[in-house]
Amino acid sequence: MLPASFPYCFAPMDNLSHPVFRRLINATLPIGTRMAYFSPAINPNSVLKKRPNLKENLPVNPGEILYYNLMHGDPDIIVAGMEKMLEYNPAGFNLNCGCPRAKIRKSGMCPVGVALMDYPERVAAIVTAAKKSFPAVHFSIKIRAGVRHNLEVLYDFCRQAEDAGSDAIIFHARSGEDQFKRPARHALFGELKQRLSIPLIGNGDIITDEQAVAVKQKYGLNGVMIGRGALVTPGIFRAIAYRLTGKPLSQPVMSWIEKRDFFMQFVRDMDNEFGTDVMLRRTKLFARWLCIGLESGHTFEGNIYKAKTADDTLAIISNFFEKPKRQYSEVIL
Ligand SMILES: Cc1cc2nc3c(=O)[nH]c(=O)nc-3n(C[C@H](O)[C@H](O)[C@H](O)COP(=O)(O)O)c2cc1C
Repeated sequence: MLPASFPYCFAPMDNLSHPVFRRLINATLPIGTRMAYFSPAINPNSVLKKRPNLKENLPVNPGEILYYNLMHGDPDIIVAGMEKMLEYNPAGFNLNCGCPRAKIRKSGMCPVGVALMDYPERVAAIVTAAKKSFPAVHFSIKIRAGVRHNLEVLYDFCRQAEDAGSDAIIFHARSGEDQFKRPARHALFGELKQRLSIPLIGNGDIITDEQAVAVKQKYGLNGVMIGRGALVTPGIFRAIAYRLTGKPLSQPVMSWIEKRDFFMQFVRDMDNEFGTDVMLRRTKLFARWLCIGLESGHTFEGNIYKAKTADDTLAIISNFFEKPKRQYSEVIL
């Protein structure tokens, strides 16, 4: 599922794991490193209805290994949506069984997101239908440790998904009820790994390159998925790639100037490809993460919120990055 030479991937994140951000991360990697990415959650029903909000979520960058993260609970809609989405040439699909947001759990006619974890038979039916319709297409599930933390439920859920033909399991080691309120339970990676014969990708609270390599090795994982850690440090995957060669980068993982250039390119590309409104919204979101623990970060964020055009935004970034700022605190997500 993930390239054996680089089994680390960028997590699906609503409004954040869009094609521009993925492309900029890819540009940080040493030449020849092939890495996998996940789209933000996509409702296959919106694809069938050709809703415009998908403009940002469907494009696959040239040569990119992209898995679409599907947000639905109905096998027929999922299969029909997959058929349409295959036109874009993704590497495969991934069913979202982890989103804990209440409005998503309660909406619609069928369970979606982490609510699906109370319906293992339904998830097995989705996996079976997807693999029956497209046997050669990769289909995995992304889960938490249940709606509430319950290991028996977790193991039974995974067993059913595996028997149904899921190609891999991505495990965010928290329950739905935990949301992000407690640290991810990494020890569960080892527990689950012992019980599975399909690949297991571990996810949750992995924020340094050193930790990413160590966690994979400690629990015998087939891969590691990183989300927020890559928003705070977009160069984290490059640092992992160097660490794997046995020659870790000297600190910092990303220089101050590189961070500035990354951010400015982000603004230019978003503006060109998706227009100023989308650029402004996505820039505000990204600024929040990039500035965690940084001296004057709040003021910078406040200024970014006032920007009205790409030129305003670029001037604010250029001004903020003129002098390096101190990292006040260790980054705690
Ligand atoms: C802002 C935000 C948006 C997210 N959107 C999605 C999503 O669309 N689909 C999904 O499966 N998970 C989504 N997640 C969960 C992440 O993929 C990941 O499982 C979680 O953040 C834990 O990994 P991390 O600690 O490396 O960030 C989102 C998380 C965050 C913080």
